Amino acid sequence: MRIDILTLFPNMMTMFFEESIVSRAQKKGLAEIHFHDLHDYSLTRYGSVDDYPYGGNAGMVMAIEPLANCIEKLQAERQYDEVVYTAPDGELFTQKCANQLSLLENVIILCGHYKGVDERLREHFITREISIGDYVLTGGELAAAVISDAVIRLLPGVIGDEQSALEDSFQDGLLAPPEYTRPPEFRGWRVPDILLSGNHAKIAQWRYDQALQRTKERRPDLLEKNDN
Ligand code: ADE
Repeated sequence: MRIDILTLFPNMMTMFFEESIVSRAQKKGLAEIHFHDLHDYSLTRYGSVDDYPYGGNAGMVMAIEPLANCIEKLQAERQYDEVVYTAPDGELFTQKCANQLSLLENVIILCGHYKGVDERLREHFITREISIGDYVLTGGELAAAVISDAVIRLLPGVIGDEQSALEDSFQDGLLAPPEYTRPPEFRGWRVPDILLSGNHAKIAQWRYDQALQRTKERRPDLLEKNDN
């Protein structure tokens, strides 16, 4: 899978992508991430990509021309399945959305900034708008990193244990059950006996019961809208 991230701050992102499982995925050839500095597509001498909003509102708006030029240059090189725009008014990012994106070949993610982008860009170039939560960030870079991380870890071969991505919280609409490792007893706190029993069927049932109980207690909303 290839992800092209269009940003005003490419340096802000490289450290994260060079130090994580995502970097391992890149080294293994399972994922490619490319950064594009939007300043390089500026139409002005000063490299600016924003302008004052029509109608006299406060703040600046990212202009359509440099962004369109960058997107079209990429689209001339290969077919993109989605052009994602990160913005607080997009659809809320969920595991379901990560699953869908992980099945794609080529994705562009445009990181929003300032007061957002010229609406015509959203209408004519963007195919999916994603928010990572009901709060406002200074820019879309962290959102693009969150989306890329959640998507890339789902690609086959990226995380060691093939099963483990499937057993994540949310993957089956439930939170994940509790996990334990050695020692079996610490300060008198024991690992549940069932996990040491070797009875795989009973362990699977226990895990499911725990996942259900945890979801009921912490995120009952997940049980109501279970449309994964
Ligand atoms: N840009 C600013 N806030 C954002 C959010 N919550 N999600 C995605 N992009 C954003």
